[in-house]
Amino acid sequence: MTKALFINGSPRKNGNTAQLLKRAMEGANEAGAEVELVNLYDRSLNYKGCMSCFACKIKGGRKGVCTFKDDLQPIMEKAIEADVLVCGAPVYCGYPSAALRAFMERLIFPAVNYSDFAHPIINKPKRSATIFTMNCPNMEIYKANNYDILMNVNANQLGMFGPTEILYSFDTYQFNDYSRYDAAMLDEERKAEMKRTQFPKDLEKAYEMGKRLVTTKG
Ligand SMILES: Cc1cc2nc3c(=O)[nH]c(=O)nc-3n(C[C@H](O)[C@H](O)[C@H](O)COP(=O)(O)O)c2cc1C
Repeated sequence: MTKALFINGSPRKNGNTAQLLKRAMEGANEAGAEVELVNLYDRSLNYKGCMSCFACKIKGGRKGVCTFKDDLQPIMEKAIEADVLVCGAPVYCGYPSAALRAFMERLIFPAVNYSDFAHPIINKPKRSATIFTMNCPNMEIYKANNYDILMNVNANQLGMFGPTEILYSFDTYQFNDYSRYDAAMLDEERKAEMKRTQFPKDLEKAYEMGKRLVTTKG
């Protein structure tokens, strides 16, 4: 059975990123995949990014997977074994959230082949996708902020494992009640309108993407 793993790199378990991931999961599940969601900010998960132990590079050692023993290690095993991998993160200060970047370091570095850069060490090829959510209102401003470089470098690294894609959700609703916060630059009315009209479309894109990732062959 196709295994699809979903990684939530937002601390909010029901925030914009999580909702999109869950909808993608529903799509993957309906397409016949066995699905699992991991919340990287779960308090039970104690981990850091790459610890530079070089176990993944040592001669005769296990290759292509991070074996550093902490709470993330079993999840790294699942990520390597997955047929489909979907990562999600909010934009934090111009980058994917720190938790997702730490996860990506642990995923990508073992695949980098210091003996042959052109041939990464891939134990199992997979289709993948990244979901980015943000205040940024559209693709034009995304590019003007260089997010297409800063954010997409991370996401496109998943392309080592096979075809990968990015789903963007702009101008997300950040607070439950905008009146409680100092946020005069954020237009609440526009935010509410986006939540009502655009976010449901993003959810549908996520659902279709989840399905597609499971059903597309080759
Ligand atoms: C620490 C922090 C930094 C943020 N930095 C940015 C940013 O640089 N650009 C942006 O467009 N949005 C930024 N945001 C807004 C979030 O990316 C946005 O609200 C996102 O959809 C939150 O995802 P969530 O609902 O899944 O938690 C930031 C939010 C936080 C909490």
